[in-house]
Amino acid sequence: MGKALEGVKILDMTHVQSGPTCTQLLAWFGADVLKVERPGVGDATRGQLQDVPGEDSLYFTMLNHNKRSVTLNTKSEKGKEIFVRLIEECDVMVENFAPGALDRMGFSWERIQEINPRMIYASVKGFGPGKYADCKVYENVAQCAGGSASTTGARDGVPTVTGAQIGDSGTGLHLALGIVTALFHRGQSGKGQRVECAMQDSVLNLCRVKLRDQQRLAHGPLKEYSQFGEGIAFGEATPRALNDSGGGQPGRILKCKGWETDPDAYTYFITQAAAWKNVCDVIGRPEWKEDPNYATPPARLTRLNEIFGVIEDWTMTKNKFEVMDICNPLNIPVGPILSMKEIAEEPSLRETKTVVEVDHPGRGKYLSVGNPIKLSDSPSDVERSPLLGEHTDEILRDVLGMSAEEIASAKEEGAV
Ligand code: COA
Repeated sequence: MGKALEGVKILDMTHVQSGPTCTQLLAWFGADVLKVERPGVGDATRGQLQDVPGEDSLYFTMLNHNKRSVTLNTKSEKGKEIFVRLIEECDVMVENFAPGALDRMGFSWERIQEINPRMIYASVKGFGPGKYADCKVYENVAQCAGGSASTTGARDGVPTVTGAQIGDSGTGLHLALGIVTALFHRGQSGKGQRVECAMQDSVLNLCRVKLRDQQRLAHGPLKEYSQFGEGIAFGEATPRALNDSGGGQPGRILKCKGWETDPDAYTYFITQAAAWKNVCDVIGRPEWKEDPNYATPPARLTRLNEIFGVIEDWTMTKNKFEVMDICNPLNIPVGPILSMKEIAEEPSLRETKTVVEVDHPGRGKYLSVGNPIKLSDSPSDVERSPLLGEHTDEILRDVLGMSAEEIASAKEEGAV
């Protein structure tokens, strides 16, 4: 059995993070991803945040595994000729340039369809059609414009961006789903189609529950938010709720043993209704099981600060892993706050290949995140990212059938 996307050729015009995450996923599923880069320059991230001088950065290597790199100046006449032939040969073209960049190169969606009607043309832009359509956008702008920042952080603090790259990698994930859906559809229609994901839309999709809460506000205060129990009035918009779960099962981040010196000695603790009696036993408050002030979820909503204070008195007597070991068998949902150091060293993540060690000719061994989506018949082996133009000759020869003389002449002209 081949891999799930074996035989699919991707013309990868992506750069930075959002587009490369998408094409990396497709490569892990077996697609042949041809990363097109400007000769002598390449994806800007190769040289950004460099930790080993002169070598491709982790920023680049961790987002471009399992791809082949071909250099091509798509603004030169010869480069355009080669580009047309690549469009003819590929199934999917993915790009996340600034709005209009491909049109300026002479490759509008109409032109691409003319060249290859079966082509699926997928783009990431910051915003969808409308007054912001022309804006250049990076991760944190998308987090702000998509509703995440206004709903993240402390109620009385500033809007806050999250470490999870929901604008870039989040949009890349959405785009990958759009592409495989369009490939599936092409199997029936025989035609390609355009796939567009705006970073603002993708962030909003991930913040769906906050738009839910916006509408609930019209019907009264959000009782699951701490500020309700604290008697603080709600404003017009979904507020920032720090570490409240904000959902139907109240939760908080609580200190564990060692918190005074270890910045990550904390646990997330959820007082799921079904596990309430076990929570009462564990924290030494069995009387709360029957006390009408604590026995039901609605009764607890005005007392969350007091309840979590008592739970924290208990969690502070255990380390974060002991909390998990005690609570898990009792079906109390808890989770340790893991530092990146702990994640890098976690054996179970190595076993599942979610964290993998990769060897690179220039920079040596480094850790990366493998494919988080596990398919039983299409396992992902993480291969190192390509050097700039490493596969230029091979792709021009094997994919386009160019002769050695043609390749040499394209090089002389500076097209590749
Ligand atoms: N040959 C010749 N020219 C090439 C080329 C190639 N192989 N590859 C890229 N270029 C050109 C582009 O055509 C463009 O030229 P133009 O400005 O004359 O049209 C130029 O390189 C730079 O592209 P651009 O996308 O404008 O890069 P930037 O560094 O100025 O902007 C972003 C970066 C990310 C802000 C922008 O690409 C963007 O908004 N993308 C969409 C949203 C997005 O994905 N953001 C998240 C990124 S993680």
